[in-house]
Amino acid sequence: MDITFLLNGESVELRNVSPTATLLDWLRDTRGLTGTKEGCNEGDCGACTVMVTDARGARALNACILFLPQLDGCAVRTVEGISAPDGTLHPVQQAMIDHHGSQCGFCTPGFVVSMAVAHLNGDTGHDDALAGNLCRCTGYAPIIRAAQAATDQPVPAWIKDTPPASLVQKYPSGGLGGRQPPSGAAPETLDDLATAYAARPDATLIAGATDVGLWVTKSLLDLDDVIFLNRCTELQQIEESDDTLRIGAGVTMDRVLHAVKDLHPSYAEMIRRYGSAQVRAAATIGGNIANGSPIGDNPPALIALGATLHLRAGDHRRDMALEEFFIAYGRQDRAKGEFVEAVTIPRHAPGLKVYKLSKRFDQDISAVCGAFNISVENGTVANARIAFGGMAATPKRATAVETALTGAEWSEKTVRGAMAQMAGDFTPLSDMRASADYRLRAAQNMLLRYWHEDQGTPSNVLEVSA
Ligand SMILES: Cc1cc2nc3c(=O)[nH]c(=O)nc-3n(C[C@H](O)[C@H](O)[C@H](O)COP(=O)(O)OP(=O)(O)OC[C@H]3O[C@@H](n4cnc5c(N)ncnc54)[C@H](O)[C@@H]3O)c2cc1C
Ligand code: FES
Ligand code: FES
Repeated sequence: MDITFLLNGESVELRNVSPTATLLDWLRDTRGLTGTKEGCNEGDCGACTVMVTDARGARALNACILFLPQLDGCAVRTVEGISAPDGTLHPVQQAMIDHHGSQCGFCTPGFVVSMAVAHLNGDTGHDDALAGNLCRCTGYAPIIRAAQAATDQPVPAWIKDTPPASLVQKYPSGGLGGRQPPSGAAPETLDDLATAYAARPDATLIAGATDVGLWVTKSLLDLDDVIFLNRCTELQQIEESDDTLRIGAGVTMDRVLHAVKDLHPSYAEMIRRYGSAQVRAAATIGGNIANGSPIGDNPPALIALGATLHLRAGDHRRDMALEEFFIAYGRQDRAKGEFVEAVTIPRHAPGLKVYKLSKRFDQDISAVCGAFNISVENGTVANARIAFGGMAATPKRATAVETALTGAEWSEKTVRGAMAQMAGDFTPLSDMRASADYRLRAAQNMLLRYWHEDQGTPSNVLEVSA
């Protein structure tokens, strides 16, 4: 593929780029820009963080799981481009020096880039912004102090990249530089995507590449035929009606968080713990559904909300309740050439609470993720939709628990009775994240937690069920 992007303010044109060449490898091996470090090579440590600006603005992304074609039409800034061309330091760099924020320094470039992105965007939630940057020297306190100190400093002019839209306008004939990507490799409309995928149903769709990136960097897979979704803006729309929110499959998790923040605050709070800022800025809701993972964090919340999934193959569209999509481990109800177009959720679900249980608060995969959408009328449970991740081979509803609750008096006795039904719904696995017994108890206690929160009982008196 041929691509064009800005690198530290200068235009770069690359021809015949391998679709799965990572930005990190190219920066270090081809451009000699070794300030961007390789740590984990799987999106976990943030040592490879770069600033990427597109029509949505500037984001921090992990270069190790970012494929070069995803950058077509974007502006990229590495740590070398955070200071001015004349060597003047960016305020976050000066603050890192002033506050002794660097010890061994391996993580420092990634921190500096994440801090510069947050500084540019006026984001003062430093803990969240830096949760995807790992410092093995436990130097977080001075780093956070540095981020806070830089907050009041003005944004330097050199860090503001040309919006890619203006870059595209310079090349009005479609692809940048008048070139079209070959054979529908990066379709720009839904129709083109549907046509390309119908013609090449064995191609690998790549959205944010937070899963697919690891197939390449860790499983060393060769992906010969790929279709990138990131240039298809129709897939990135969020449509609101009075009652529903239709979220395009290409909407990234940071935007999902923003969209549901006021409507479903508990779901949004869970998304705050989804990967890290870098992961949320790349990962899409469609990728998280399509991969069918039993520990994906969106499906339990979406199933509890009663989400409808929209699929498309060629000109044919079909809808289904999201839970029906997950057939068995690694098997979803998706035909060849069919892709996830969007998911629709209700705007109103005041009884929704989502609990993510993982070993670390930030940047960790769930051991169990439970979502509870319970409505109570006149002291009786009118409706209960409960779904879990991490409890079965697929994201799954707790139907026996729902049945025990529905129509019953909303009381602790009912809740404890329903908790006992959980063993009928699930036979969880033991793995490195949790034992089967722990998972079952944790899932039961999530329902008890829901009850206590609903009753206003302080969380520090929560009991462990026997
Ligand atoms: C460091 C790190 C932390 C993570 N933390 C979490 C976490 O906390 N919670 C969690 O749930 N997940 C987590 N993940 C997993 C990952 O981020 C999600 O599964 C993500 O949402 C996948 O979306 P993507 O756009 O990156 O998908 P991609 O990697 O691009 O694709 C994933 C799969 O979906 C397919 N696909 C993508 N879009 C479509 C579509 N529209 N239609 C059909 N198929 C499609 C692809 O072909 C591929 O099979 C993490 C990953 C990393 C690397
Ligand atoms: S090298 Fe660790 S996130 Fe990229
Ligand atoms: S300063 Fe050593 S890893 Fe961060």
